[in-house]
Amino acid sequence: MILQQGKKTIFYTRDELISRLAGYERTLIDLGTGDGRFVYRQAGENPHIFYIGVDAIGENMQELSQRVLKKPTRGGRPNAIFIVASIENLPPELTGLADTITINFPWGYLLKALIQPEFHILRSIVTLAKPDARLVMLVNYSVFENQNYIERLDIPAMTTDRITEVLQPTYKQAGIILTNFAFLSRDVPHRTTWGQRLILGSARETLLLEGLINPLSVV
Ligand SMILES: C[S@@+](CC[C@H](N)C(=O)[O-])C[C@H]1O[C@@H](n2cnc3c(N)ncnc32)[C@H](O)[C@@H]1O
Repeated sequence: MILQQGKKTIFYTRDELISRLAGYERTLIDLGTGDGRFVYRQAGENPHIFYIGVDAIGENMQELSQRVLKKPTRGGRPNAIFIVASIENLPPELTGLADTITINFPWGYLLKALIQPEFHILRSIVTLAKPDARLVMLVNYSVFENQNYIERLDIPAMTTDRITEVLQPTYKQAGIILTNFAFLSRDVPHRTTWGQRLILGSARETLLLEGLINPLSVV
């Protein structure tokens, strides 16, 4: 798989990653990590957890993927790495590693795949997880008020009925039990670059979806 390190990209093997994970209590994979600020911040607050930020666009991760390499006293984060990969082609090197998977404020195909939902994408997210891993997703709910965007992406409006009648059963079939959903108007559990922008911009609503992943389940 491709590791982003500042402006460089490096081929990184599963064995190299597994040896980096030694000694950490848990691993979190953040899909669609953007500039990686959520991963960077969390890695500083929780040095016993290993963080893997994944995004299709490596360029946006350049700054923080460089900063993590510094000494911890100078802002380095030995417990964080950034991988360039799209949700459509998740690297097999990440299989079965995550205790937690987060997806914060997805857009484009990432958003569509989660809310349509696209079964094969859900299945490939599940392959990243350890048994009983947590999934936490934050979706910018205001996109559903933007008719142009909805039509362009060809995505359905996200009502409570759609969550219970379509998302919950499809996620379950893919191996994810959606345990909770809620509409949050200001405070959201993850501080990310996009989350801050949306919240500061106006009183936008965020849809929180939480789940438990069981990669061994086939319903
Ligand atoms: C609105 S940004 C959110 C970034 C970050 N999670 C945050 O909250 O600041 C959406 C991110 O999803 C990524 N993304 C969109 N489609 C993707 C795909 N198919 N595979 C992987 N990442 C994707 C984009 O590159 C972008 O960084």
